[in-house]
Amino acid sequence: MQHSVSAHPPTAPVQAFVADVERMLDTQAADGDRDALVAAVQGRLEPLLATPDVLAPDDRIPWPDHYRPHLLTVAPSRRFSVMALIWLPGQVTPIHDHICWCVVGVLEGVEREQRFSLRQDTAGSRWLAPGVDALVAPGEVSRLTPPDENIHQVRNAGSTLAISLHVYGADISVCGSSVNQCFDDLPLREESGMASGAPVVWREQ
Ligand SMILES: [Fe+2]
Repeated sequence: MQHSVSAHPPTAPVQAFVADVERMLDTQAADGDRDALVAAVQGRLEPLLATPDVLAPDDRIPWPDHYRPHLLTVAPSRRFSVMALIWLPGQVTPIHDHICWCVVGVLEGVEREQRFSLRQDTAGSRWLAPGVDALVAPGEVSRLTPPDENIHQVRNAGSTLAISLHVYGADISVCGSSVNQCFDDLPLREESGMASGAPVVWREQ
C-alpha cells in the first residue's frame, strides 16, 4: 500500500506525544515488557485524540480512490512512526495483519473494525472465521501486539470523513507499510462446532 508523507514537521501536540513515547521506549528497553509499553502508548494516545488541532489542514485531505495512509513523522530514534489514516465514506482496508505492534485511535468520524481468526482443517484448507465486528467512535483507542493480535479489516462506516491516528513500532519510511500479509483471497466461514477447524499460528514473533 502506497502512503504519503507530511510535507512539514508535525504539530506541537504530535511532537509532544513523540517525545513522551520515546521516553516510554527507553523505559521499556530497560525492563523488556512490551505489553506494558504498548498499554502505556495507548494511555498516551487517548489525550492526544482530545487535543485540538492535532493535524494540519493538509494532513486531513483524503484520496478519492482509496483510504490515505499518511506518515506524519518517524521518531528521532526510528523506533516508531505516527500515521494518520484518512478515509472517505466506504473506503476500506484489505484483510491484513501487521509487522509490528500498533496502537490505533479514532480522531473523527466512525470506523468499523472486523476481526478474523485464521482456521485450518486436517486436509490443510484454510479460511477466515469472522470475529468481533465493532463500530469505533472518536476517542476510542485499541492496541494490537503480534503475534497475539487478530487479523482485521477496517473501514469508514459513517457518512462523513473519518480520520484515525496510528502508532506503529517500526520505521514506516523504511519498511513502507505496517501491513505484514493480506488475506483477502481466503474464503470466509462462520465457526460451526466440530467443523470449526483449528486455529493457525501463521507466524512467529
Ligand atoms: Fe491494521
